[in-house]
Amino acid sequence: MRKENRNSKDCAYVACGAFKTENVVFGVRPVINLENVAYNYGGGELLSDITLKLQPGSFHFLTGPSGSGKTTLMKLCYGALTATSGQVTLFDEDVRHMNRDDLAMIRRRIGVVHQDCQFLDHLSVAENISLPLMVSGRDDLTQSANLKELINWVGLSPRAGALPPELSGGERQRAALARAVIMSPEVVLADEPTGNIDWEMSQRLLRLLIELNQMGRTILIATHDLALIRAVKTQVQARVLRISKQRLHLAGADL
Ligand SMILES: Nc1ncnc2c1ncn2[C@@H]1O[C@H](COP(=O)(O)OP(=O)(O)OP(=O)(O)O)[C@@H](O)[C@H]1O
Ligand SMILES: [Mg+2]
Repeated sequence: MRKENRNSKDCAYVACGAFKTENVVFGVRPVINLENVAYNYGGGELLSDITLKLQPGSFHFLTGPSGSGKTTLMKLCYGALTATSGQVTLFDEDVRHMNRDDLAMIRRRIGVVHQDCQFLDHLSVAENISLPLMVSGRDDLTQSANLKELINWVGLSPRAGALPPELSGGERQRAALARAVIMSPEVVLADEPTGNIDWEMSQRLLRLLIELNQMGRTILIATHDLALIRAVKTQVQARVLRISKQRLHLAGADL
């Protein structure tokens, strides 16, 4: 995968609810920007007054109780849901002004590891991982070399020809990560990427996400696993956001 200048040291977490700018690099625009966003599914307000700026190259965790809205917030961050109020800007474009084609382009720039990673069970692991390439008409020879490299990177070379139902939980999560990054997205949103896998495999997966961040990618990971967050924070400068009572808070050092 292409190496890029890392700027995570400069990259700043800007604002989250009541929290103010820290280490802001002027002129650097956030890749994902939520301003006073609220969301509800038709019932009571689920998310209120959410302000979040993800700067390029930054690393964030998103935590909070089950049902607090982590997945919903992630969906707002890649345009799968439209805010009930407030403004969501992805790469400087207001989501409300995007048509289907614009959103399809955004999906190439934001790779998503879904909480419930689904595969096409009749296609091999390698074919599933390369689906985004095929859909975008980029499954040429160069890409097939990249695909091999990517499958190797996530440690799935011996399982490349297997069918998804034959994979272990950790192998599925790594396949999902490979599929999320095959288009070389600038941002990776991973929703509980370590759900249902053991500690060692979780660490391995997190190591891959840290490597992506070191290549300049912006990373946002939703997780319940505070031990994992603590472990990662010793390796990378990461911010921890917490959803509580519909709002987003910056978690303190007492995590
Ligand atoms: N499509 C939907 N329609 C109506 N309600 C929904 C929908 N999706 C989610 N919800 C509700 O919104 C709330 C937040 O769901 P969400 O999946 O964002 O939570 P979460 O923090 O990701 O939870 P978990 O930690 O269990 O993954 C829940 O009460 C859920 O039932
Ligand atoms: Mg969720």
